[in-house]
Amino acid sequence: MSNTDHKVILTCAQPSGQLHLGNYFGALLNWASMIDDYECFFGIVDQHAITAPYVPAELRQATYRNLALYIASGLDPEKCHLFCQSHIVGHTELAWILGCLCPIGQLERMTQYKDKTQRQDSGFIGSGLLNYPVLMAADILIYNADRVPVGEDQKQHVELCRDLAIKFNNTYSETFKVPEVYIPKTGARVRSLQDPNRKMSKSDANQSGCVYLLDPPNIVRKKIRSAVTDSGSAVRFAQDKPGVSNLLSIMSASTGKSIEDLENEFAGSQYGTFKDAVADAVITVLEPIQAKYEEIQKDKAYLDRIFREGAGAAQKRANKIMSKVYRKVGFVPRT
Ligand code: TRP
Repeated sequence: MSNTDHKVILTCAQPSGQLHLGNYFGALLNWASMIDDYECFFGIVDQHAITAPYVPAELRQATYRNLALYIASGLDPEKCHLFCQSHIVGHTELAWILGCLCPIGQLERMTQYKDKTQRQDSGFIGSGLLNYPVLMAADILIYNADRVPVGEDQKQHVELCRDLAIKFNNTYSETFKVPEVYIPKTGARVRSLQDPNRKMSKSDANQSGCVYLLDPPNIVRKKIRSAVTDSGSAVRFAQDKPGVSNLLSIMSASTGKSIEDLENEFAGSQYGTFKDAVADAVITVLEPIQAKYEEIQKDKAYLDRIFREGAGAAQKRANKIMSKVYRKVGFVPRT
């Protein structure tokens, strides 16, 4: 990798649930588009994934599965660092230090925290859920990342990270870069096939609204065929046609054709014909991803090697920053 002078990009995702079309078009494709021009660190954040009730064996499986899917989706491990958060010493250590600078009130005001605590039906709210954004800030600052590509829902967390970087710098002297949040403008915002007013989500109550990257072709076709469409019969992108508009976006993202070209192509077509074409386009995108995934997912030794190499590069960078941090906060060096 010869791009060490390049800006550092960092982003992470939790290994919970299955990756879907929304993750692919909204995030993964964007990440993949940056690997040639930047030094990129992509983390699978297993330590974040235990802030809500979960099954350990499933977490381990999902961590491998997501790694394999990242690679299959174009995150070439020769060109970027793919790492597992718990392999790197320092994330939680830095989170502790940042936590000591972070007012509780600011954490309690986080939109995601408020949503999640209101929805928690078990009645149990671990302090990990409250402190989660501090760990996220540590994920970013420990690499001195320049830029953090995230979805709109994570913007507030990156802003907290910026606040903490500034606070640390003011308290202890200039140490961290204040990272930029980067919300990609391009990339389709894929909506649920069953409720196009909401984004496609693995936690959607109606699972047929969500196309997973590992769904076999017949399931993809079935889900797209049963997508809600709107009244009228025109295949047109419009506010009052959220269902059809969503399918047009998905097809445009899948084929590279513009929405306008697709509207022309399907002018006068029945919804059924259009949906079949959307399904074909999505299946064409998923086929090579699934083929590559099948090839590598069984090869644990390969996946472990990628994690080992990713951790090597990530740890090296993290160590540099952490030794500075430890010195600045007044810890006695380990000799
Ligand atoms: N909180 C993010 C999410 O749920 C995942 C995440 C953890 C993250 N650490 C990060 C994203 C650091 C960007 C940078 O989607």
